[in-house]
Amino acid sequence: MAEDILKVEHLNKFYGDWQALHDINFSVKKGEVVALLGPSGSGKSTLIRTLNGLEPYKSGTIYFHGKAIEPSHKSWLAIRQKIGMVFQSYDLFPNLTVLQNIMLAPTKVQKRNPDDVKKEALALLKRVELADHADSYPRELSGGQKQRIAIVRSLAMHPELMLFDEVTASLDPEMVRGVLEIIKRLSDEEDMTMIIVSHEMNFVEQIADRVLFLENGKILEQTPGKQFFKQPQTQRAADFLNSMDF
Ligand SMILES: Nc1ncnc2c1ncn2[C@@H]1O[C@H](COP(=O)(O)OP(=O)(O)OP(=O)(O)O)[C@@H](O)[C@H]1O
Ligand SMILES: [Mg+2]
Repeated sequence: MAEDILKVEHLNKFYGDWQALHDINFSVKKGEVVALLGPSGSGKSTLIRTLNGLEPYKSGTIYFHGKAIEPSHKSWLAIRQKIGMVFQSYDLFPNLTVLQNIMLAPTKVQKRNPDDVKKEALALLKRVELADHADSYPRELSGGQKQRIAIVRSLAMHPELMLFDEVTASLDPEMVRGVLEIIKRLSDEEDMTMIIVSHEMNFVEQIADRVLFLENGKILEQTPGKQFFKQPQTQRAADFLNSMDF
């Protein structure tokens, strides 16, 4: 049995007086792909951000490799080096080249050898078919290319877990597939552990080992991916799937 990389117990989060996440419980095993699905406003982004230490929470415990993460800024800074996150806006540094963007955190934060990091960055760029753009600036790239760079930048930190929040939502349709293919390959070829939010239902159906279906900040069901799309356990999830029209 693979070990749990991440485990969340009784997590409750508030924005002011209003409760955004209610008693969230789940775990993610090494190599597993977990998809968060649910209507707009159900708390998917809030949960993903909480798992990366970007949102304070009122109660509950988040474990990484079985160890409870102290809810302090300092402990999250360390954990964040092991949990990569890519979201809708790529926010690359506009004044740095692609290669400089990718090398920044591994050399400055992780203090790794620049020559090694550069070699690895160039290999990663080749894998996402952007080797020719190492010296380009973000403004010279398309949205899809920028998003592929954002993924590479995250991978250059050697994360053990990747969080993806609607990474294709702001892309033109013809750019979507290239980005999704990279994520699929990460799972198939590298056995990367991932938590994914996406509205690309065909993609989620292909890739998700398990689906967590959320509504109003609660997990209504946790179902193996293939089963979820054929026969979800709740009427609410069935209605959601019908409304997605895919
Ligand atoms: N910073 C914030 N302050 C107050 N309320 C917030 C904040 N961020 C999110 N919310 C609220 O929390 C709820 C969950 O929002 P969240 O962004 O997590 O939903 P989501 O499932 O990601 O939705 P979508 O599919 O539209 O991205 C929503 O009701 C939202 O209005
Ligand atoms: Mg969201």
